[in-house]
Amino acid sequence: MAEHLVAKTSEVAEDEPKRVIVGDQQIALYNLDGEIYATDDICTHAYASLSEGYIEDGCIECPLHAGMFDIKTGKAQGVPVTEDLRTFPVRVDGDDIYVEI
Ligand code: FES
Repeated sequence: MAEHLVAKTSEVAEDEPKRVIVGDQQIALYNLDGEIYATDDICTHAYASLSEGYIEDGCIECPLHAGMFDIKTGKAQGVPVTEDLRTFPVRVDGDDIYVEI
């Protein structure tokens, strides 16, 4: 596990996920009430980018089949998604967002 500088807080709008690439990993960043969270960007159901999905009540809705995951825990919220999403520790230092991957 290593910490990576991935974005500035000003780049992650509230309720609008942002995709960042770290090595060969695609990560989605979220701003929920000013707190930054990070998950895998690729849905566990099929190949879809969750950063193109919609944030609703603390969950990310997949744009392909509308599967939902809790952004803070990665918990799958029910069919069609059954496998939880990986989440990553986030540290914010000033305007810098670091994700541990
Ligand atoms: S690919 Fe995300 S719900 Fe199917």
